[in-house]
Amino acid sequence: MRITVLNGPNLNLLGTREESHYGSFTLADLEDQMRAHLASRADVSFYQSNQEGDIVTEIQKLSSRDRLILNAGAFTHTSIAIRDALAAVKVPFIEVHISNVYAREEFRHVSYLSAIAKGVVAGLGVESYLLAADFFLRSGVEAK
Ligand code: DQA
Repeated sequence: MRITVLNGPNLNLLGTREESHYGSFTLADLEDQMRAHLASRADVSFYQSNQEGDIVTEIQKLSSRDRLILNAGAFTHTSIAIRDALAAVKVPFIEVHISNVYAREEFRHVSYLSAIAKGVVAGLGVESYLLAADFFLRSGVEAK
């Protein structure tokens, strides 16, 4: 199985960014934990960008054979372009958030992506990503 972990804007600042919401781990820590967790069970690759168009382009490289764990950051709440890219490539994806977006401002309660996601995991820190990966490994989820 090939799992791609895609992180959107400002997630490169993990470790120093709003620790009360995002904890003190860095993006590199998160990626290390995922690599260790998946070990030989799946090929995993990572991508982070602050640019909406770059995220769209990266999604366009995926196919329905890939499995995507996506934290689109603030673009979750705004991006029709990212949703359209996900719908176009038909890649099974899980929307993840480090913080519990439902316990925060109302604008974070709206996601343009959830309706076409396999599922959503929010509020569990790094565990949000690990649980999403476990789901893909255990379920062998079918392409849409
Ligand atoms: C986030 C939540 C978003 O609302 C926010 O814009 C982020 C991070 C999270 O992981 O909790 O950048 O996706």
